[in-house]
Amino acid sequence: MGNTRKRLIDILSSHKDTYVSGQELSNMLNISRSAVWKHMNELKKDGYQIEGVTKKGYRIINSPNDLSASALQWDLKTDWLGQEIVYKEQVKSTQLVAHELAREDAKHGTVVVAREQTEGRGRMRRYWDSKDGLGLWFSSIIRPMYIEPKRASQLTLVAAVAIADCLSKKGLDIKIKWPNDIFVGGRKLAGILTEMQAEQDFVQYIILGIGMNVNHEIEDLHDSIKEKATSLFLETREKMNLNHLLDQLLEELELKYEMFIEDGFHLFKEKWESYAYKIGEWLQVKTNNTWDAKVIGIHEDGALIVTDRQDQEQVLYSAEIIW
Ligand code: BTN
Repeated sequence: MGNTRKRLIDILSSHKDTYVSGQELSNMLNISRSAVWKHMNELKKDGYQIEGVTKKGYRIINSPNDLSASALQWDLKTDWLGQEIVYKEQVKSTQLVAHELAREDAKHGTVVVAREQTEGRGRMRRYWDSKDGLGLWFSSIIRPMYIEPKRASQLTLVAAVAIADCLSKKGLDIKIKWPNDIFVGGRKLAGILTEMQAEQDFVQYIILGIGMNVNHEIEDLHDSIKEKATSLFLETREKMNLNHLLDQLLEELELKYEMFIEDGFHLFKEKWESYAYKIGEWLQVKTNNTWDAKVIGIHEDGALIVTDRQDQEQVLYSAEIIW
């Protein structure tokens, strides 16, 4: 999105209750009145409802439901996360696009969002079903200044807490299944995929990919996951505006990321455990083989702590919880 359009949206979103005249906009943006008018028409095409009143000026009444870079910018209250949005109608995977952009020096906080992914990918090379316009499929480029590669995996847990906090505000009883699954009502709602480019002691960049099922009806869920997955609509019976939801998620992610960078992971341990899925219950974990375990909590460094049937404590850095 061009810089002028971005500034125009900023001005209008900070004047929600008043009108801004064409002349004022033209002065502030340093463009002609007819250029202002053209930009307004482009915003209308994006789905904005704009009221234009003679002698008063313009006012945006409603931002669009459909995902778009301009609608995402409306109301986004972050300092850096999502201030650069790359919006695509269809991609193989937003992870791939984000890696490409990161290699080309894209800014810290750039977010790639797509309406649809044809080859969405999950953890352990699994396929991630990402239907057209039904969910949020996005990847954020993070360039942490001072974290060692081994701490980067903690970012997955930090992101999970951010998502859980954001969705809990909507009254949902969110659980996190270590390390990266967001659950509600015993079914998976969202997943996080953290990929990184690093040298031995230096992280070049991290791509934090998040997929969330939002407006799916039961028939929209792929047959292979119908029994195990859910969507926000299925849990709340409310269709959500994807732009607003993504804005809220980005705001929470930015806040939690800053806390993590400034104060470290220890702040998140207790919070994460308060959301832990089936904590204290027997379940199965898969490492080299599959065995019974009881989740106790997480270690200061983010590893999962369980006990086995022999009552031995085990610290797991890589494992899958079977549910
Ligand atoms: C998982 O639960 O295994 C992680 C799923 C992550 C899916 C998201 S959707 C946006 C980004 N692009 C991808 O291809 N994957 C992640």
